[in-house]
Amino acid sequence: MATKETALPLPLSVQFECAEDEGSSPGENPTLGDVIAARFDRRDLIKGLLGCAAIAATVSPVALMVAEEARAQAASPGGARNTPSFNFAEVAAGSDERHHVAADHQAEILIRWGDPVLPGAPAFDPQNQTAAAQAQQFGYNNDFLGFAPINGNPEHGLLVANHEYTNEELMFPRLGRQDLQTVRFAGMTKAIAEIEMMAHGGSVIEVRREGGSWRVVPNSRFARRITAETPMQITGPAAGHAMMRTNEDPTGTRVRGMLNNCAGAMTPWGTWLTCEENINGYFWGKAEGPNAAALRRYGAPGNWYNWGQYFDRFDIAKEPNEINRFGWVVEIDPFDPQSTPKKRTALGRFKHEGAGNIVNRDGRFVVYSGDDERFDYVYKFVSAGTVNTADKAANRDLLDAGTLHVARFNADGTGTWLPLVQGQGPLVPETGFPDQATVLIHARLAADKLGATRMDRPEDVEANPKTNKVYVMLTNNARRKPEEVDAANPRADNKFGHIIEIDPDGGDHAATGFRWTILVRCGDPAIAAVGATFHPNTTRDGWFGMPDNCAIDNAGRLWVSTDGNSTGAT
Ligand code: FEO
Ligand code: CA
Repeated sequence: MATKETALPLPLSVQFECAEDEGSSPGENPTLGDVIAARFDRRDLIKGLLGCAAIAATVSPVALMVAEEARAQAASPGGARNTPSFNFAEVAAGSDERHHVAADHQAEILIRWGDPVLPGAPAFDPQNQTAAAQAQQFGYNNDFLGFAPINGNPEHGLLVANHEYTNEELMFPRLGRQDLQTVRFAGMTKAIAEIEMMAHGGSVIEVRREGGSWRVVPNSRFARRITAETPMQITGPAAGHAMMRTNEDPTGTRVRGMLNNCAGAMTPWGTWLTCEENINGYFWGKAEGPNAAALRRYGAPGNWYNWGQYFDRFDIAKEPNEINRFGWVVEIDPFDPQSTPKKRTALGRFKHEGAGNIVNRDGRFVVYSGDDERFDYVYKFVSAGTVNTADKAANRDLLDAGTLHVARFNADGTGTWLPLVQGQGPLVPETGFPDQATVLIHARLAADKLGATRMDRPEDVEANPKTNKVYVMLTNNARRKPEEVDAANPRADNKFGHIIEIDPDGGDHAATGFRWTILVRCGDPAIAAVGATFHPNTTRDGWFGMPDNCAIDNAGRLWVSTDGNSTGAT
């Protein structure tokens, strides 16, 4: 094992799929069709539910296991002893309105949208919802769950959950879907927008396992709701930069709320990293003026919500820098409900899917993150300092200094992590990068200049502490044309996605060199034209498409959830 042992109880995290794919593609402006399609994808609950069902339905003991890991575990007496068996019947593939689990297993509801989070929260009344009530109640669209044990107890701890986005047609009786293209937000009011804002963000709840079931501990002193209005601090190299300043915050260091938090991760020191993804959709107006190119590169303004009609900060014309204060990884201490969440700008600004992390063998902290957009990139951040495993508080600002890199996958199976450092290579004032803050705020544009490899929608990236190999989920990219295929994205019209395995040089996550292979080309292996490459023992129920979130369990096995159904629809 190359990684440092940690004296801290290691938090666990679980990540879930969401059925969205929004924003612009690099190098091209979104068409109206793109915008409509994106809107449809995000708001189609039925599709979302089917996607969730597909996760359970397609989980296969064979398909989800990294064979090499399984062999290594079986060959190791210690590993074999710690490896749970998989003696359950495979679940039949399919999609319907029910939640399927394996025979002799059961799924229970822990907490639902509207259930109380904060002590004294009013009872859920969906017919008469208010912003004040929603701000105390659980949200929904939870793409990530993380568990931080209390006193090392695996059956008692804090559960953190994100609330990624909202659907008016589901939240508000008889309102129907609200958008710019079809109804021009005709049913919206300021009060509805305020409820939506309170349903974004995340929750911290205390949970305990009793009698074989998990329960929420009511009136917990740790309980917290984080919303689109929660005061947050901007930290790291971009804090205070001119592009981060607004009328409300001339310091460029304070921002209200976090938006579209997708997957995430827990850190070894017990904090929650939650990742802002499709932030472009919350901004209103047109991409005009000197910042227009950067706005378009980020798919902004997306006009998916009309909050800008009521609040100037979401109107690009009135407050052009507010959008620069979203699209970051946010670090939250779940054990201190009074703590100020921190947007860690050293990790760059893009549509962060997650923040898979590992303590490198030299003690530095490495965070991997996909930018979930067709043709966008895979990144990693390497901290300047090292993790203090004995003193949790000593890691408080570890994520404020370090080097962000973006991946280039070479055709010969090698790869390079390219540093996003101002003054190096093409990242100079003449190309639009006068300082490091600009490199980080416009990370996508900097990565364009560096020649990073344009990927098929990078979602979760996770490092396996047992092998130091890194797994990259690439969901799909039906827009890739035959002339655009490359070794790392080998299929045109890639409806089903693939998984790449990265092997850092020398097992060193701080190294700039790596080797890579395609672990799985997803899709139905029975259809030759799909070109899927699953293990030959994979059953008819075992294959999957559109890998999205992933996790590596204590035995070193890779688990994959999928985004959408397996028909190839996106
Ligand atoms: Fe919010 Fe890329 O999933
Ligand atoms: Ca996701």
